[in-house]
Amino acid sequence: MKKTLIITGGAGFIGSHVVRLFVRKYPDYQIVNLDALTYAGNLENLTDIASFPNYRFEKVDITDSERLIALFKTCQPDGVVHLAAESHVDRSITDPFAFIRTNVMGTCNLLHAAKELWKGAMDGKRFYHVSTDEVYGALTVDGVRFTEHTRYDPHSPYSASKAASDHFVRAYHDTYGLPVVLSNCSNNYGSHHFPEKLIPLAINNIRHNRPIPIYGKGENVRDWLYVEDHARAIDTIFHHGKDGETYNIGGNNEWTNIDLIRLLCKIMDEKLGRAQGTSEKLITFVTDRAGHDLRYAIDSDKLQRELGWQPSLKLEEGLEKTVDWYLANTAWVERVTSGVYQQYYEKQYGK
Ligand code: NAD
Ligand code: TYD
Repeated sequence: MKKTLIITGGAGFIGSHVVRLFVRKYPDYQIVNLDALTYAGNLENLTDIASFPNYRFEKVDITDSERLIALFKTCQPDGVVHLAAESHVDRSITDPFAFIRTNVMGTCNLLHAAKELWKGAMDGKRFYHVSTDEVYGALTVDGVRFTEHTRYDPHSPYSASKAASDHFVRAYHDTYGLPVVLSNCSNNYGSHHFPEKLIPLAINNIRHNRPIPIYGKGENVRDWLYVEDHARAIDTIFHHGKDGETYNIGGNNEWTNIDLIRLLCKIMDEKLGRAQGTSEKLITFVTDRAGHDLRYAIDSDKLQRELGWQPSLKLEEGLEKTVDWYLANTAWVERVTSGVYQQYYEKQYGK
């Protein structure tokens, strides 16, 4: 069936995997990648599908409501998959307002544009909001995991801004009948991940023999999901999720940061032909992150039971694939960390 979908944040880490999956899997869909190309957005992530006839890129900032309304009028989307966000907790601690602008105001602007365009004709439309498990706060009781009914308890400006956006999405459903669906996912890892986040940062630092900063004692626990598994879950939920519902997505892969980094060091020593134990010497314990949540863990039983999705990789397998990608794409890492990749956009599309 022919459809036009706007995917926001499609030049970022998860968004680029979602765009690639949709463009390749659904040749009848027109996929519009809407992205402001902040430091985290990189069109080089999508060179393999950039010339597909069912793909196009629009450089738009979701904080610009007028541009959004105009774009919605010209594109006439049947659906929105919303991933654009400021996504790094440490940056939210130094600049919370950037998170309020993009994650809260930007999401509200998108909801407004969809509501105005679809007014009186909501059938067959869908607004999919991609969110995080961090809205649920920190787990303190062993064995307990976040379900869709866990009370929101965000602690960082990032998670507070995502929580606020989730509430607005539900409010637009309940108040205006906007057809929405939401998901809250655990920590992702995989290719094209900006090297400020733990795993790609550690891979890059190990390669350059630089210290690997571990916050506090490294006892914090995260539930890691391979990014392509997340993209598949988004596809499943977009097409089969029930109107107004929320689905938790997780990898069932809980690791303390220190155990994860020790495993990564082993893999890196092997791949780089270094003696075992070499990379571990780079581990450096540093001052803890303010408000650092102790443990996240997702119960994704609802998604597995109702929609049949399953994570495909254990962390050990996914981490090795991830390391292989980073070692084969060192030029990508150099370009994203130096900002040179932004010239790629100018070459393709002009200033
Ligand atoms: P990312 O930082 O890699 O990418 C974000 C993208 O959004 C970039 O392409 C950036 O240019 C774009 N963007 C930022 N501000 C914008 C604006 N004002 N207007 C238009 N585009 C803008 O993020 P990610 O890790 O790919 O996360 C994508 C989404 O998934 C986010 O909503 C995030 O909250 C959610 N999420 C991420 C994780 C994770 O582990 N990374 C886990 C669960 C949920
Ligand atoms: P991160 O990748 O920033 O994701 P999030 O904060 O969204 O979970 O961090 C993952 C975990 O690693 C988190 O507990 C913080 C920790 N961490 C470090 O110990 N050192 C680092 O340099 C970074 C970036 C994160």
